[in-house]
Amino acid sequence: MALRNIFKEGEPILRRVAREVGGIDERVVTLLDDMRETMIKADGVGLAAPQVGVSKRIIVIKPDAESDEIVEMINPVISEQSGVQVGVEGCLSVDSSKNCKIARPMRLKIEYTDRNGVRHSEYALGFKARVICHETDHLNGILFIDKEYRGR
Ligand code: NI
Repeated sequence: MALRNIFKEGEPILRRVAREVGGIDERVVTLLDDMRETMIKADGVGLAAPQVGVSKRIIVIKPDAESDEIVEMINPVISEQSGVQVGVEGCLSVDSSKNCKIARPMRLKIEYTDRNGVRHSEYALGFKARVICHETDHLNGILFIDKEYRGR
C-alpha cells in the first residue's frame, strides 16, 4: 500500500465525470488499498478516486466515528433518496475555510460493487447518506462548495 497525493480544488480532474470501472483488476485493488490508507492518514471520512488523480468511479467511506469500518464502493449508484438533512461539510480537496452547510437527503438507497465483484444494494441513513452523496458527487465533477445551503 502507498499514500497517494490528494488533488486540490483547481485541478481539472476534480471537475471531470469519472469513468465506470469495467473490470476489477490488480490496478483497481491497489487503488482501493491506497485510497483506504490515504483517507485514514488524512483523517477523512470519505475519498473518491478523482481526488487521488484517478478518473474512475470508485469511493471509500468511513461513515461511523465509533467504528473502523471502511466501505469500498465501485460504480456506486444512488437509486432512491428521501427526506432532507442540513449540515456542515468539508473536503480533503478543499481548504477548510470553505466548509459550509449543505442540504442532503436523509435516506438513500445505494448500489455498488465491492472488490470481489459482488453487487450490493443497501439503504443508508443520516451521516452515512451524507458521506455517500458527497463522494458520489466527486465522481460527477461536483464539489460541495457548488451547493452551499443558504437557507436557515
Ligand atoms: Ni470531498
